[in-house]
Amino acid sequence: MLRSSTALVTPQCHAEISYAQEKQRYMHSLTRRNFMRIGAGSMAAGAAAKITLLEPAALWGEEQAVAPSDQIRFASIGTGTRGCELLAASLAVPGVECVAVCDLYDSRHEAAQEAVQKQVPATRNYKEILDRKDVDAVIVAVPDHQHRRVVVDACAAGKDVYIEKPMSHTVEDGFAMVDAVRKGNRILAASA
Ligand SMILES: NC(=O)c1ccc[n+]([C@@H]2O[C@H](COP(=O)([O-])OP(=O)(O)OC[C@H]3O[C@@H](n4cnc5c(N)ncnc54)[C@H](O)[C@@H]3O)[C@@H](O)[C@H]2O)c1
Repeated sequence: MLRSSTALVTPQCHAEISYAQEKQRYMHSLTRRNFMRIGAGSMAAGAAAKITLLEPAALWGEEQAVAPSDQIRFASIGTGTRGCELLAASLAVPGVECVAVCDLYDSRHEAAQEAVQKQVPATRNYKEILDRKDVDAVIVAVPDHQHRRVVVDACAAGKDVYIEKPMSHTVEDGFAMVDAVRKGNRILAASA
């Protein structure tokens, strides 16, 4: 979605890296050696499967017309400083349309509507957004310690996710989010 280092988490990637095995090991003890092995294993599996995990160029928006049926309709959950920056940046990305915003504060709803230059529906309850069948994807821009809850709920509701660093507040949160992506068969783009 944006021009920065982006990693995609897809169910296929995780099948390749024996993720479940590594998670099991981690749960018993995360030694430095284990941590290094997870990274090495992921790289080796990616190379073997010809998967490039970090390839932002392929994700950059290109100047081309997008059919209305191919438009990605998204919402931002969290419209603080970064959420509004991302909303403003989305205006330059072909094929995406913000259709709702969510924040705990009315003032942030107004800031979000300014960022997208239109009056989109705004709510304080992100589950209302997740219940909408016409929302394909969500930006998760709530504070770090809430990433896990919102990402897990979004994946369970069938939404793809864009999220930025730090993706997880704890290592356990990271595993929970990857599990949610796999279980929901979703795409999560994590950008630095
Ligand atoms: N890539 C980067 O360099 C970079 C930089 C800053 C922030 N970020 C990302 O953006 C996230 C947000 O950072 P920020 O600086 O915008 O913080 P912020 O505090 O300005 O904004 C967070 C917003 O989330 C809202 N919020 C909190 N709980 C919510 C909930 N349950 N439902 C809906 N809205 C809720 C808050 O009201 C607030 O407006 C960070 O966690 C981080 O992932 C990335």
